[in-house]
Amino acid sequence: MEKLTIQTHPIAGQKPGTSGLRKKTREFMSPHYLENFIQALWAAIGGVAGKTLVLGGDGRYFNDRAAQVILRMAAAGGAAKVIVGQNALLSTPAASNLIRQRKTDGGIILSASHNPGGPDADFGVKFNTPNGGPAPEEVTARIHQETQRVTSYSILETRDIDLSRLGATRLGRTVIEIVDPVADYAALMARLFDFDAIRRLFSGGFTLRYDAMHAVTGPYAKAILEDTLGAAPGSVINAEPQPDFGGGHPDPNPIRAKPLVDLVMGPDAPDFAAASDGDGDRNMILGRGIVVTPSDSLAVLAANAHLAPGYKGGLAGVARSMPTSRAVDRVAAARGMDAYETPTGWKFFGNLLDAGRVTLCGEESAGTGSDHVREKDGLWAVLLWLNILGETGLSVADTMRAHWRAFGRDFYTRHDYEALDKALAEEMLDDLRARLPALAGQSFAGRRVTSADEFAYVDPVDGSRAERQGLRVHFEGGARAVYRLSGTGTEGATLRVYLEDHVDAPDRLEAPVAEVLADVIAAAGEIAGIAARTGRRAPDVKT
Ligand code: G1P
Ligand code: ZN
Repeated sequence: MEKLTIQTHPIAGQKPGTSGLRKKTREFMSPHYLENFIQALWAAIGGVAGKTLVLGGDGRYFNDRAAQVILRMAAAGGAAKVIVGQNALLSTPAASNLIRQRKTDGGIILSASHNPGGPDADFGVKFNTPNGGPAPEEVTARIHQETQRVTSYSILETRDIDLSRLGATRLGRTVIEIVDPVADYAALMARLFDFDAIRRLFSGGFTLRYDAMHAVTGPYAKAILEDTLGAAPGSVINAEPQPDFGGGHPDPNPIRAKPLVDLVMGPDAPDFAAASDGDGDRNMILGRGIVVTPSDSLAVLAANAHLAPGYKGGLAGVARSMPTSRAVDRVAAARGMDAYETPTGWKFFGNLLDAGRVTLCGEESAGTGSDHVREKDGLWAVLLWLNILGETGLSVADTMRAHWRAFGRDFYTRHDYEALDKALAEEMLDDLRARLPALAGQSFAGRRVTSADEFAYVDPVDGSRAERQGLRVHFEGGARAVYRLSGTGTEGATLRVYLEDHVDAPDRLEAPVAEVLADVIAAAGEIAGIAARTGRRAPDVKT
């Protein structure tokens, strides 16, 4: 087993975005690409020598090869131990949990989340810090800096490790411990939730359909929902993780998980349905006849979490990313809890969770989580919903109706314009930024603008600042439009336009979303000049 030092040179563009370094798989597979990034990561954390790390991924194409390379580089760098999920699989929340439970120096997650997988699709590498959460900006900036000056990397020359065999083995002097990816996570869920209450729900005939979208949560959902909690066999579908996610787009939203939407709207609807994404941190919640928007789901969970044992003492506070609807703020206000508004990206919740200021947090992009780990957690959200329904005996639709009656409803939609020319998209937003101060008082599509600004965030725990986190336009009556460019795309630019309006009138609570938001959508389009500038008549994705 020889330790090789390979000469290399910096590769441009290795800058982690909203969630790690995400690129086309072929780019990741090109000579030295992954190795450079990992060597830069070692440098950014003060070397890997003597450290213990967690390693796993969502099973997408190149996951297995990348894991072998990283193990050989960890061994070459003198790591004490790497804890690896069997077959190099770990969902993102399970990895976060392992990092915390085993008190490691961090972990590496191989995933491009909800982006498709395959040689012509996407791959990604995320580094999580010892608190279990995504590396903060200061760390990712350091990694990026190191990628710009890497000149060589070290790697052991050795055969592949058999990652299918549980137990400990050695690579050089580094211990490689291969663990069951599900066990510790399932134990954590059993501590948080009343499994007996959920079992009673299923034994009473409650029906469930969980779509794992051929991604990493299949084994977790089968073990927990079917084998432990007694959901009928076959309740979990597409449960076998596949390198290309069955050719699909493992993003749990009404477009990508349309069959699930059709199912709950049809005659054979189960009581409850859910889906999760590639790496298991996102969730979509549905019930018979209803799709729950992620912002609403966060609000309902915040209002009812005390019904689950893990949260019976109440919540310290809640947080949401800025573009997420303000539904959860209303719950916080009614319950006297603090509510925080952070930039997009889970990493911004880390300090608030670590400081004990918030217990629950979430994003409009189907991410919900709590202080049990430092990542969003799809299956956790499903279990909390089930625990709540088990206690209240209400259906999903009735839960939502009751919630809207109590708090009013924040009608919400997000419009994505994908693969735009990057320069054009940036120019459009630069232009809008310059016009923001003049917008107040003007009307668009019959809606008067009351204020407009660009969101910047000062972390209340460490004082760090994040600038340029989205352009916001507020309208009279409480409606809002937010514009930002995606930080996770791998092709051109994606413009996200977030649209919402608050309705209290009881007879409007179940009006069609498109109808309630029609003029806010029109106003938002006009303000930025989306159609005129991009030539696009409609968004590519509406969530
Ligand atoms: C998107 C979501 C964001 C989420 C991130 C990682 O980022 O909008 O809420 O945290 O994916 O899952 P974006 O592409 O908008 O930068
Ligand atoms: Zn994800």
